[in-house]
Amino acid sequence: MGYDGKALKKARERLESIRAANEAEHERRIAEVYARVPRVAEIDARLRRQMAELARLAFSREADRDAQLAALRHDNLELQAERAELLVGSGRSMDYLDEIVSCPICRDSGTVDGKMCSCLKKFYNAALTEELSGLLRDGSERFENFDLRLYPDMPDAKGNVPRAVMTEVLALSKEYAAAFPQVSSDLLLQGGPGLGKTFLSACIARAVAERGYSVCYDSISAALEAFETRRFARDGESGGDAERRVREMLECDLMILDDLGTEFLTPVSASALYTLVNTRLANGRRSIISTNLSDEELSGRYGPQLYSRLKGAYRSLPFIGQDIRLMKK
Ligand SMILES: Nc1ncnc2c1ncn2[C@@H]1O[C@H](COP(=O)(O)OP(=O)(O)OP(=O)(O)O)[C@@H](O)[C@H]1O
Ligand SMILES: [Mg+2]
Ligand SMILES: [Zn+2]
Repeated sequence: MGYDGKALKKARERLESIRAANEAEHERRIAEVYARVPRVAEIDARLRRQMAELARLAFSREADRDAQLAALRHDNLELQAERAELLVGSGRSMDYLDEIVSCPICRDSGTVDGKMCSCLKKFYNAALTEELSGLLRDGSERFENFDLRLYPDMPDAKGNVPRAVMTEVLALSKEYAAAFPQVSSDLLLQGGPGLGKTFLSACIARAVAERGYSVCYDSISAALEAFETRRFARDGESGGDAERRVREMLECDLMILDDLGTEFLTPVSASALYTLVNTRLANGRRSIISTNLSDEELSGRYGPQLYSRLKGAYRSLPFIGQDIRLMKK
């Protein structure tokens, strides 16, 4: 899979600043100990001379080379022991002067065996997810703030109790976010306007992003627009931006597509939608789609190909109750 250059650069910069901070702290500790316990500075100087001596002996043909090596090893162990005692005796830990690394796997290099280390991947995902700020604008979209009291406690015309239904929808969404990406389906948030679909998808997005996965959010119209711009403006700045956006949508760990059904449907946008849904499914990447449309409306509008994919791979979460947008007014 390809990586988005801008986000990758940001991620590398973050890792580099951590590395630099660790190095500065390492140097500060050395200066501190050398000032307070000068004997440690002496020992370190001797240990360095021993290293040089060891390198010299490795290539030497002197007759007593082995004896010299043995003596060197003995001195070395004694010095190390004395150093450790001085550190511990002065109230510090034995490894206080060791090199400091935040990621023991890659030692803050960002790479292991030529591959991106999980620590860098985390920063990379965080950089991608910064685009989410539009969805998570006022910070209130979290599960704790999802208010079930806004849903009526009385059965509706069909005999369903909105609060009971939404209690289950909320519980399922929390489980989904906690288990991500080990989840067996995509989610289709279905229901009338103002019932909290965008709100709940933002709660899921935040929870998943906070666990270090990359999350993209777009309204369906904005998403399809990026596809069309990419198609018609291959060159130039808008083309490059759209290209990047499309790649993110296809490759992010979780894609949230809001307001399916509100887009202007043309053969071009319909095929872009199909590409988006189908590519993600084929690559085992999870998506959450919200819509005002019922099953009948979905199949009527998008035809059997897309509809069967939505129904087959998506778990439908029903949103019922009274328009919260109107209630809040
Ligand atoms: N469970 C909830 N707790 C607190 N606030 C909520 C809840 N559900 C919705 N809201 C608020 O009500 C308003 C409408 O919710 P939201 O935008 O999520 O509805 P929607 O289902 O996405 O509607 P539409 O189909 O029109 O897009 C928003 O201001 C949202 O913050
Ligand atoms: Mg909405
Ligand atoms: Zn690492």
